[in-house]
Amino acid sequence: MVRDIVIYPDKRLKLISKEVTSFDKELHSLLDDMYDTMIAKKGVGLAAIQVGVDKRALIINIPTEDSDDAEQPKENTLEIINPIFIEKDGSCKYQEGCLSVPGIYEDVERAKHVKIEYHDRHGNLNTIDNDEFLAIAIQHEVDHLDGKVFIEKLSYIKRKKFEKEWKKRDK
Ligand code: CO
Repeated sequence: MVRDIVIYPDKRLKLISKEVTSFDKELHSLLDDMYDTMIAKKGVGLAAIQVGVDKRALIINIPTEDSDDAEQPKENTLEIINPIFIEKDGSCKYQEGCLSVPGIYEDVERAKHVKIEYHDRHGNLNTIDNDEFLAIAIQHEVDHLDGKVFIEKLSYIKRKKFEKEWKKRDK
């Protein structure tokens, strides 16, 4: 089921999400709905708080190829619960967007390589070690769990420009 996306500057996007302790049906239907919502809005990642649920859960599904008919089959979805960074190093710049800030794309600097530990939907512990696009996506989504949106990483001048443009489109 597709849920509504929480749009910037909604205050819920500033919440620090809470650790998941039960890996139950409620979590599973949240994750299923997050997939439906991400696909409906043509995103590659979504954090639970973006559908208004303050749990430390996020999904990422990187399209199989970089084209308009790229596919994002459900079995390719990474479901990441209670992620913790074990390693985070290097730096790179990548143009990011966010379903909570639709239509805005800006370069953001992040670590090049990350290693995380996380639970899957059944509570099993897993790790991901990556230095490609997935590493960027993980950092973007984990920021949501900590109440941060990517535009907060922009320079002062770019941020001002963004806020001005964003207010204009509200009207
Ligand atoms: Co986002």
